[in-house]
Amino acid sequence: MDTNNASAALRELARQVADKARECRKIAVLTGAGVSAESGIPTFREAQTGLWERYDPVMLASVDGFRADPANVWKWYDERRQTMSKSRPNPGHEALATWEKLVKGQGGAFTVITQNIDNLHRQAGSESIIEMHGNIWYVRPVDAPFNEAFLLDECPLVEIPPRDERGRMLRPHVVWFGEMLDPDNLEAAFSLAVQAELFLSIGTSTAVYPAAALPFEAKRRGAVVVEINPHETELTRFADFSLAAPSGVALPLILDQLRADGA
Ligand SMILES: NC(=O)c1ccc[n+]([C@@H]2O[C@H](COP(=O)([O-])OP(=O)(O)OC[C@H]3O[C@@H](n4cnc5c(N)ncnc54)[C@H](O)[C@@H]3O)[C@@H](O)[C@H]2O)c1
Repeated sequence: MDTNNASAALRELARQVADKARECRKIAVLTGAGVSAESGIPTFREAQTGLWERYDPVMLASVDGFRADPANVWKWYDERRQTMSKSRPNPGHEALATWEKLVKGQGGAFTVITQNIDNLHRQAGSESIIEMHGNIWYVRPVDAPFNEAFLLDECPLVEIPPRDERGRMLRPHVVWFGEMLDPDNLEAAFSLAVQAELFLSIGTSTAVYPAAALPFEAKRRGAVVVEINPHETELTRFADFSLAAPSGVALPLILDQLRADGA
């Protein structure tokens, strides 16, 4: 489906969301793996194909799995980095970046809170971004705090597992199963949800906590909640607007309406 083939019902919903958005100065957006699906980045489960099928996801994405076999975990991350290096932002990412500029140009606030680690929001031009689950292009020494993360964009990696100049083994700067999120990011994300007048939940199953709590918290505090997801989720029946379409179709439709209205 592209924007030309969007149904009349979807266009009407996009118009209603744009109408609501025009009244709001504080907008927060939660994104998940679905927003990058149209960029060809597989969801977590889909990334476990071929050689990786026989691995327990917890062993590829947990501290215990990393301690047991760091080279194997790094090989999997190196492959994912190679896939992601070929991916480009899609019209959904681009629409969010343009929307942010429109809102900020009018003195409003617009932040993307993403569970994605693929860096595509930044590549598309979004500026206010909270990466709740880290960034696959960053690394930090094993056992080092979050603020010691640094960019390592060599792709593919020459040395697996990679080490820093002091010989310390590095790990991907991503949040693994059972790990705590960066408390500063978490606090900032909840603060945005509480203050948001409009909250969009896009391409996420709203099943992975604590990120999944954000749209519910926003709703409880009075925000208008919009969901964009081709499939029903736990959030769908609580959302004020539910656009059952790919984000690469629905977001440009909303943006077209905002621009048409001179927002
Ligand atoms: N791109 C990435 O950085 C990336 C990739 C895989 C997983 N992850 C992370 O791993 C965790 C688990 O992820 P998961 O894969 O189960 O994702 P998820 O739980 O965030 O669910 C993905 C959702 O996207 C929806 N979706 C699929 N295609 C869509 C589209 N074109 N437009 C809008 N929505 C669409 C699906 O219906 C599903 O509800 C999350 O933290 C996720 O963000 C990140």
